[in-house]
Amino acid sequence: MESKQKVCPVEQAGHLESSLRKFLQDPNKILAPHLKPGMTMLDLGCGPGYFSIEAAKILGNKGKLIAADLQDGMLDKVWKKIRGTELEDRIKLHKCKPNSMDLNEKVDFALGFFMVHEVPDKRKLFLELKSILKPGAKMLIVEPKFHVSAKEYAKMLDYIFAAGLSIDNRKDSLLTRSLIIKN
Ligand SMILES: C[S@@+](CC[C@H](N)C(=O)[O-])C[C@H]1O[C@@H](n2cnc3c(N)ncnc32)[C@H](O)[C@@H]1O
Repeated sequence: MESKQKVCPVEQAGHLESSLRKFLQDPNKILAPHLKPGMTMLDLGCGPGYFSIEAAKILGNKGKLIAADLQDGMLDKVWKKIRGTELEDRIKLHKCKPNSMDLNEKVDFALGFFMVHEVPDKRKLFLELKSILKPGAKMLIVEPKFHVSAKEYAKMLDYIFAAGLSIDNRKDSLLTRSLIIKN
């Protein structure tokens, strides 16, 4: 089943990098428990790179961060931040297709922050994730309650199980629903 959720416009990317967000959703605190230097991580639906930049710093110069998005405008924003810095070689920008991640590289960890609800074909999304997460690799998914009803969230869980992935951890807060899935 496909949903018709619109993608976050590039013009609104600034909201994703506000000071309030840095206070409420500190990228370092969120990612550090899941990452080790030298890992390969996918930031799926990276937007302007709010999480990608901090992740690449944690991954270090032997690590790799794949910043993947549907929109050129978002990838341009990431590129402008890393161009000419030490992160330029560590972050690979990847343009997804509207109905496919179009990625075949295996990763140690993936992040899908505020993005799954924007993907029209979630069944296919989780099948693709199953094929790119290394055995035992995890993915952190965070969805906004404001955009995702309990029923839609439950449907997403069905797609996760149907793809052969398992749930490692689940946590709800006032504004978000988070889960860690595992291959
Ligand atoms: C609300 S933004 C969140 C950005 C970032 N994850 C963050 O939390 O700051 C959602 C992003 O997902 C991207 N996106 C939506 N559907 C996508 C798809 N099918 N494949 C890849 N990226 C997608 C959008 O272009 C947008 O940049």
